[in-house]
Amino acid sequence: MTKRAQVRGVGHYLPKRVVPNSEFETTIDTTDEWIRSRSGIERRHFAAEGETTSDMATFAAQKALDMAGLTADDIDAIIVATSTADLTFPSAATMVQAKLGMTKGFAFDVQAVCAGFVFALANANALIISGQANRVIVIGAETFSRIMDWSDRATSVLFGDGAGAVILEAATGDGTIEDRGILAIDLNSDGRHKDILYVDGGVSTQSTGHLKMQGKEVFRHAVEKLASTAHTALGKLNLTGDDIDWIVPHQANLRIIKSTAHKMGVGLDRVVLTVQDHGNTSAASIPLALSVGVERGQIKPGNLIVTEAIGGGLAWGAVVLRW
Ligand code: UT7
Repeated sequence: MTKRAQVRGVGHYLPKRVVPNSEFETTIDTTDEWIRSRSGIERRHFAAEGETTSDMATFAAQKALDMAGLTADDIDAIIVATSTADLTFPSAATMVQAKLGMTKGFAFDVQAVCAGFVFALANANALIISGQANRVIVIGAETFSRIMDWSDRATSVLFGDGAGAVILEAATGDGTIEDRGILAIDLNSDGRHKDILYVDGGVSTQSTGHLKMQGKEVFRHAVEKLASTAHTALGKLNLTGDDIDWIVPHQANLRIIKSTAHKMGVGLDRVVLTVQDHGNTSAASIPLALSVGVERGQIKPGNLIVTEAIGGGLAWGAVVLRW
């Protein structure tokens, strides 16, 4: 008998305001055609004035609870993956805890930028396997619209806001790859690459700052590292791309997603794609894609899934789970 962290529910929230590529044509030197062809993005959602990361995270968590038939009282822990928390402290996770009316358990944030949800899943899995929590809400939530330099055409057209949540629950499996739940994890970071994707502000520099990215460099690392981390995670189970039902990738760029799938020998018909509708929502992109994938009827119970992501740090990783 093996303890597993199994998915019990999933949900997401997208802010109401949808911004098509054409809206940028009026403010910066860009075109819908450039954005579509270079990134695959067609539109994105932006949070309303006053709408915060913890607001969106709470909506997503509530939807996941509803789907699971649970209430906040049934939860032991909340982890929010975010780089855009409402305040410097307390954590977005404790704000979600209060908004859900949860008065026990514990909550904290994880910051690994676009790879944050993968790192948060790994944390939740460790808490469950070690017996410190039985049910954990794992959330990815971001308001990247608040850290955009709207005059920078190379970055401002790429990002969006949103939140997704997954409830993981302790369960017993046979210890085989047929078990539902998290089966393998691979995490990496390399701080030498901090200058290719960062925000030029923060608490100790006394500003919020704006996102800066050397797109081509990040692209190069992404294409190399995403397939590699997915292979490593699958390799721990003696599996390959042939064995999986879905790749649920971080949704940064359609060209990166295609290249990774190609390297893994997986056709695009086995990739959940939301980048066209959401843009890059950083840590929120994978749980958003999981939730949308379930809503569309793509992801079904028993499916074998690989999630993979890379972001600032650089930080990157992959999780293999059976839905
Ligand atoms: O989520 C975290 C991880 N992030 C990523 O994975 C993002 C990785 N990088 C990328 O997705 C791509 O590098 C971008 C989509 C950011 C850019 O695509 P690219 O094919 O690498 O384009 P580029 O940066 O090399 O720019 C090509 C040209 C440049 O003009 P010149 O120098 O060739 O004259 C840019 O100035 O496109 C220009 N350009 C634009 N043109 C129209 C850059 N942004 C725009 C724009 N509209 N918005």
